[in-house]
Amino acid sequence: MASVPEIKTPEIVASDAPAEPPIELPRFQLALDQFPMQRVEVPKSIKVEVVSGPGRKVLRVSGGSLDASPSGKTGGVSVRVSDAFERAASGARIRVQVVVRAADRMRESEFLIAYSTCDVGNSGWQRMWAGAEFETFSFEWDVPEMLHGNGDFVGILPEQDSAIEIAEVAVSVVPPISIAADHAIISSIQEFNARWRELDRSYSTARRLLLGDPRWIYGPLNVKETVRPLIDLMGERLVGAMCCDTGCGVSNVLGNSTLLYLNGARGGYAFDLLEPHDLARSAEALYDLLAACLMLPDEYHINPRFSRDAFMSRVRDFDFKALLAGDLYNGARNVPIEHEARSIYDLPLDKGPFDLTFSRAVLEHIPDLGSALVRLFALTAPGGVHRHVVDFVDHRSYTSPQFNAWSFLTQGDDWAVGVPNADVSNRLRPSEVEACFSGARFAVKASPWPPEPAPMPDEVYDAIVEPFRKFPRAELETLLVTYLATKPG
Ligand SMILES: C[S@@+](CC[C@H](N)C(=O)[O-])C[C@H]1O[C@@H](n2cnc3c(N)ncnc32)[C@H](O)[C@@H]1O
Repeated sequence: MASVPEIKTPEIVASDAPAEPPIELPRFQLALDQFPMQRVEVPKSIKVEVVSGPGRKVLRVSGGSLDASPSGKTGGVSVRVSDAFERAASGARIRVQVVVRAADRMRESEFLIAYSTCDVGNSGWQRMWAGAEFETFSFEWDVPEMLHGNGDFVGILPEQDSAIEIAEVAVSVVPPISIAADHAIISSIQEFNARWRELDRSYSTARRLLLGDPRWIYGPLNVKETVRPLIDLMGERLVGAMCCDTGCGVSNVLGNSTLLYLNGARGGYAFDLLEPHDLARSAEALYDLLAACLMLPDEYHINPRFSRDAFMSRVRDFDFKALLAGDLYNGARNVPIEHEARSIYDLPLDKGPFDLTFSRAVLEHIPDLGSALVRLFALTAPGGVHRHVVDFVDHRSYTSPQFNAWSFLTQGDDWAVGVPNADVSNRLRPSEVEACFSGARFAVKASPWPPEPAPMPDEVYDAIVEPFRKFPRAELETLLVTYLATKPG
């Protein structure tokens, strides 16, 4: 039997006892207007000057080097925290907070922050984008227990061609999260009812920040965005359908299959060439999705052809305790959804037949797409439907400004030497992908997005090499296509 999650409002006991004094948490803040000062060290390659900011002096910093290290005193402008803070931070969770804006206020400036113990490791560089206005940027890190205590440092490093202005650098110890603390917050909010606006604002800000964090983009909203078009496509056929998430990724590996199942699918099979990146995080992401379904059923119960009661009852079939404990497969043991690490080329036929097969940003990574689609055809039920979103952009352009969407079409066959595996593409163009579907005997319809292609600059077009030059320019300019394919019934 699946364990049924208890959804109870926390019991809040009114008390006449005097409120406990707030606990002072260790904190260290640097008064930057006193620069230069002992606590701040600046590597030779970096230029620092004190300039007037709004109502206070700020530090303008430029000239960071790409290979600066986040370890030791860090290769950025390094601020040594007080010895008292270093001791307090040992074994604790800390929050590093800087107030920064771009020095050139016409464009955003990228910069990095790190917390280094000079002893038991460092947080690694945390990448941030500063805009025209001063803004607080922060991250949290669990500091390991101190061994020798050689000094702790906050490093700040502008990207090579960027300049930033720093108004504040502070570090604080983050209080451990406790149920008691949660209750205290809830009671104080109930007591000062007017404060709900504050809570609402902080909640919205927190969600926005979390959504911008790569560790969170695979959260409930992302799953809903992926699954909604599938439910629209399937209509009443979703109820009782067997679904296949092709190349489900390595983060929230059961997310899409779960939301389809909760909305009426009979079951789901999700596979990816790679093992999940972090099983515990996948379990947590699934827990978040189920919690969102319980709290906001109007948003996650999408299929009007499947009853709300049945949706809710399916949510409760998951083992929430196991998921919270980071055990993904146990958490989903009572529901007919499955995940495996496998290649698309060797999917066992007994996993099918599938009524709905879908993928997002996967088919462009499959070198022998023709054979893979023949395999998927064999696994598709007669009349079964496919929806695949294919991204034709050179993925290197997502992380590195030296590349554009078409860079790999200007290079020879050795373009992928040294390119991370996840970014290697088969470089097929939209009509070739369509031909692979037809060749595998699917009836296929391709819908480019946006309907009007992105114009390619002339100098990029002139640099395109064979065999890509043979394609019409409009096809080269098409960067995202959704393929709807069916296996004739
Ligand atoms: C860009 S990710 C997309 C992941 C996911 N669909 C999403 O939307 O977040 C591409 C995925 O395709 C997977 N992949 C690449 N080659 C594959 C293969 N031969 N068989 C199965 N999965 C593959 C990769 O491991 C990777 O997780």
